[in-house]
Amino acid sequence: PADLYRPERKNSRGLEFGDRAALHGLLASVAAETAPVIATSLIGGKAATGQARELFSPADPAKLIGRVIEATIDDANAAMVTARAGFFGWSRTAAATRASALDRAAELLEQRAARFIALLQREGGKTLDDAISEVREAIDFCRYYAAQGRDLFGNSEAMPGPTGESNALALRGRGVFVAISPWNFPLAIFSGQVTAALMAGNAVVAKPAEQAPLIAFEAVRLLHEAGVPASALHLLPGDGRIGAALTAHPDVAGVAFTGSTEVARAINRTLAAKDNAIVPLIAETGGINAMIVDATALPEQVADDVLTSAFRSAGQRCSALRILFVQEDVADRMIEMASGAARELKIGDPIDTSVHIGPVIDADAKTRLDSHIARMKREARVHFEGIVPTGQYVAPHIFELASASQLTEEVFGPILHVVRYPAERLDGVLASIERTGYGLTLGIHSRIDDVVETVIDRLAVGNVYVNRNIIGAVVGVQPFGGSRLSGTGPKAGGPHYLARFATEQTVTVNT
Ligand code: NAD
Ligand code: ALA
Repeated sequence: PADLYRPERKNSRGLEFGDRAALHGLLASVAAETAPVIATSLIGGKAATGQARELFSPADPAKLIGRVIEATIDDANAAMVTARAGFFGWSRTAAATRASALDRAAELLEQRAARFIALLQREGGKTLDDAISEVREAIDFCRYYAAQGRDLFGNSEAMPGPTGESNALALRGRGVFVAISPWNFPLAIFSGQVTAALMAGNAVVAKPAEQAPLIAFEAVRLLHEAGVPASALHLLPGDGRIGAALTAHPDVAGVAFTGSTEVARAINRTLAAKDNAIVPLIAETGGINAMIVDATALPEQVADDVLTSAFRSAGQRCSALRILFVQEDVADRMIEMASGAARELKIGDPIDTSVHIGPVIDADAKTRLDSHIARMKREARVHFEGIVPTGQYVAPHIFELASASQLTEEVFGPILHVVRYPAERLDGVLASIERTGYGLTLGIHSRIDDVVETVIDRLAVGNVYVNRNIIGAVVGVQPFGGSRLSGTGPKAGGPHYLARFATEQTVTVNT
């Protein structure tokens, strides 16, 4: 139906940074949100007690921002059993009531935007811009899935009855959905998975990333307050062992996972080994995302889009640009412009609104990225190296590779790799991109329609962006998700997402 593609609703409003009064008002509200959060498991609404782990800000590892009492394997098992009981009530709750709870959650998120922006900055190390965008995305997911779900789950679809029987097809919840999320969009991806699964009538056990339990805890409490029963939504903060226990549990009816390809593969193996059910996996994973720039591209626009794609959010987006293929005739100019523009980027604590690049998420991420930079300094040509402040920061870098095959895995930080190609070797570029095995985002900067069409036709990539940057997909506008090693689909914020959380039932009545 048409309203599946354009459900009745509007995306949330942003903040005009030029409106100084509004900006200062927001900054004052964000600055006031300093109360430390104590996150725990929430099983049937009950908080756990136990030993708490202290959490520090990635921007300032001396700043205590909260504590978390992590779930145990026993908690994971208890949550699955409680969720199974909760499923019966929630799946029978009218779709309109489920949708109203999500709409109410959107309202509460709007009212408490400053609280969540503060948490995204303190726990996620996000710039103000990124934190605002993320709160908006979470609000938009709630409203988008609510508007779609009202229609999709509200009524069964009458089918033809050529033999005199009446036939109807309905979508219903599957049972207990396990939602496992990454740290890099700790509010938007966490709440996107959870609200979609809830809208489809499932009970949900949510396992947020170990780096970001505070935001998840606040989001679950908000959803409970908005009308999602505590029996239908449970939270288990903890590391991968908790995720592994949940996916191995015999009562899991579906898994929504966003994170690395490696963990998606492990979950896939666990689910495939079950002999009591065939359990669907919705996986959104990583990518070695490319941009192709030919000689017809506009250099100033390319420089701007390359910087945004590679360095915004400190390169910690699954959609971020990792490898830039530039036609050799224009390569020197493009690299020089991108390097010149990169020199203007400010790195530091994102509490300062003039900062463009904040910290990386934890010490392990910094060690991994520093070691990649050291390898690139030995094996590639260095075009640009930013100045890194003391702390958990990684400066932007631009390296030129002799061959794309030197980059074999996703490098999750502000590091751009460039490869030059002769005009007649576009085919070789496409083959290199195919060889990565991934298919998440792709950019093309070209004014030649044939080139653009050939690239789009040839590559199996989830989100293709022509003559613009490759990040920041908008809910209901640019449904987001990859193919091949980058994910199973369906796309988050798109018309086919909700149905994949549900099962279909046909009822035939001999009238
Ligand atoms: P990760 O795979 O390390 O962890 C993701 C989640 O899985 C965490 O909650 C973690 O605790 C859990 N986990 C770890 N081992 C597990 C196991 N064996 N069984 C079950 N759960 C387990 O990823 P990350 O470092 O948190 O996030 C970064 C990755 O996520 C990058 O690869 C990025 O590209 C990807 N990502 C993809 C998208 C997308 O939409 N395609 C969006 C954001 C991030
Ligand atoms: N959906 C996020 C983006 O498009 C990851 O950047």
